[in-house]
Amino acid sequence: MDQQADLPDRRGDDDGAETSLRRVLRVATQDVHDRLHRHAGFAAVQDATIGRAAYRDLVVRLYGFYATFEVAAAVAPVRSAWLASDLEALGLARPLHAVPRCPHVPRLDAAHRRLGALYVAEGSALGGRELARGLDRLLGRDVTAGRRFFIGRGAQTGEAWRNYLAQLSAAPRETSAHAEIVAGAVETFAAFERWLDGWTTSSEG
Ligand code: HEM
Repeated sequence: MDQQADLPDRRGDDDGAETSLRRVLRVATQDVHDRLHRHAGFAAVQDATIGRAAYRDLVVRLYGFYATFEVAAAVAPVRSAWLASDLEALGLARPLHAVPRCPHVPRLDAAHRRLGALYVAEGSALGGRELARGLDRLLGRDVTAGRRFFIGRGAQTGEAWRNYLAQLSAAPRETSAHAEIVAGAVETFAAFERWLDGWTTSSEG
């Protein structure tokens, strides 16, 4: 499992793709991102203190978010498939179709809102790889099963992020387009945070 290399520096000018729009997105979502660092589930994964039942609850919640998000954003169901395989590895008691779905995902049928929403999904992969390492104790070193989602694209994460930033750089410069992009990101982060707030209530026992 290669999770180390190729992470871009969030604060640096990575390659000229650092746009003012990206800075606006980062500033607009900094508080919610910081709060998510302190989310009990993510923090416990990062600290390698999470137990199996709690981790499964977290993955159940993530599945419920991404299954809805991918439909709303019209993207391939890659993350939900990774999460489904993780749930299978973790021993989900109920069938996948019975897993509750996030009802808060905003409408993302407009291209600019979708681009903003993808900032959240693509950006979360940067931290995800760090979180994957925190699961060594729970799942076993070098074991992929159960953390496929957090591993994500592995060593290709940086490249995927740069591709996303290139799309962002190509966005129209009109203020109205930027406002839509930022709204898509802010609303998606808000939906995610709200949904993750109730993560332990999905307990699978
Ligand atoms: C404990 C949980 C998390 C950790 C440790 C974490 C960590 C990171 C790291 C290391 C980066 C990359 C560069 C840096 O800041 O040095 C990053 C970027 C980012 N993360 Fe997180 N993250 C976490 C949770 C999340 C979640 C849950 C989301 C969204 C659902 C998210 C969205 C983002 C975004 C959008 C960026 C890109 C920011 C930018 O550079 O424009 N993160 N995160």
